[in-house]
Amino acid sequence: MKKILITGGAGYIASHTNIELLKDNYELVLLDNFSNSSMESVNRVEELSGKKVRFYQADLLNSDQLNHVFEQEKNIDAVIHFAALKSVGESVEKPLDYYENNISGSLNLYRAMQKYQVKNIVFSSSATVYGDPDEIPVKEDAPTRCTNPYGHTKLMMEQILLDSAKAYDWNVVILRYFNPAGAHESGRIGEDPEYPANLLPFVSQVAAGVREKVMVFGNDWETHDGTGVRDYIHVVDLAQAHVKSIEKLKNSSGSFIYNIGTGRGYSVLEMISAFSQACGHDVPYEIGPRREGDIGEVMGDPQKSAQELKWTAQYGLKDMVDSAWKWQSENPQGYRSSTQENT
Ligand code: NAD
Ligand code: WQD
Repeated sequence: MKKILITGGAGYIASHTNIELLKDNYELVLLDNFSNSSMESVNRVEELSGKKVRFYQADLLNSDQLNHVFEQEKNIDAVIHFAALKSVGESVEKPLDYYENNISGSLNLYRAMQKYQVKNIVFSSSATVYGDPDEIPVKEDAPTRCTNPYGHTKLMMEQILLDSAKAYDWNVVILRYFNPAGAHESGRIGEDPEYPANLLPFVSQVAAGVREKVMVFGNDWETHDGTGVRDYIHVVDLAQAHVKSIEKLKNSSGSFIYNIGTGRGYSVLEMISAFSQACGHDVPYEIGPRREGDIGEVMGDPQKSAQELKWTAQYGLKDMVDSAWKWQSENPQGYRSSTQENT
């Protein structure tokens, strides 16, 4: 297991995963259509690792482009499939875009894998598949109940992979990420949303003065301070979980589903307070109404991934907010300023 194809290879989680895989001397082939990223993250991965990757600008919806990648790159051993549209709110407004990109794109990828005899895959799923779970921390065998089109696409793609694993003898690791946060310690790569859909990038932009204040979505939840509690996971820990998943695929066959979380939760107010410490000043916020479809508290049970994947989170909240602030303050326009400088 040496040569790995990374779909969505220029994205937030992929760029951190690329660094960890390159440290372990994997050979990387990246594919991305830049719908939510740019070449600059790939350049910076090469700069940080001191290694080269092979990059293809290609769209999963275009089978010809996809087949071209598999034709050019003989002997791909495994795929890590990150490419997807990922905004819950947008998926409610544009469900067909989400089903088309995430489902049709994945089907094209799986067809290409079948054609070129690639049988190993790690898939980016999400805690969103659990909806509002009955028990927390939530275990992998908890019932799945999505409440939005994005979550449905994740669950459908999980099912397609589980069925394909049985029928075609594929080996599949499905990772259900909780709430990815933070950035690489260098401050050179990080999350680069134009309009942040998640809490921490929003708090970062408020701390940097790009936005006026954080709107806290309700303080009447049944949590210790009334604000929503989530299981935040450092993106470098998450990246490491992919390295462990590739190792798992080397040593075992079949399909596996793992939570990637810490088992510990922080409230919105705790996140804002930790971020204020990181940036050295108060981050303004206001208590607003609950967000539609939101849930109070969710954490992932990390025991199965610890036992079977041999993976446990190493970083804590301080590492997440410090690295997020370093990335935000050193790249106030994300990758865009560098892209303009280079053109
Ligand atoms: P991201 O948007 O930074 O990365 C996804 C990448 O896929 C982007 O670079 C985008 O340009 C690319 N892409 C999208 N559609 C494509 C297509 N049709 N063809 C080629 N490339 C395409 O997002 P991320 O946060 O790094 O998320 C990576 C994966 O993890 C996604 O599957 C997402 O659903 C999943 N996930 C993310 C989170 C989170 O909060 N960030 C949580 C759980 C799961
Ligand atoms: C976290 C907490 C909000 C923004 C989503 C997806 C999930 C996964 C991760 C992809 C909640 C509160 C937020 C704000 C706030 N993504 N909040 N003000 O909803 O747990 O998960 O992202 O797979 O699928 O559903 O993450 O970052 O949006 O919210 O008060 O401006 O912060 O209510 O309690 P969420 P989030």
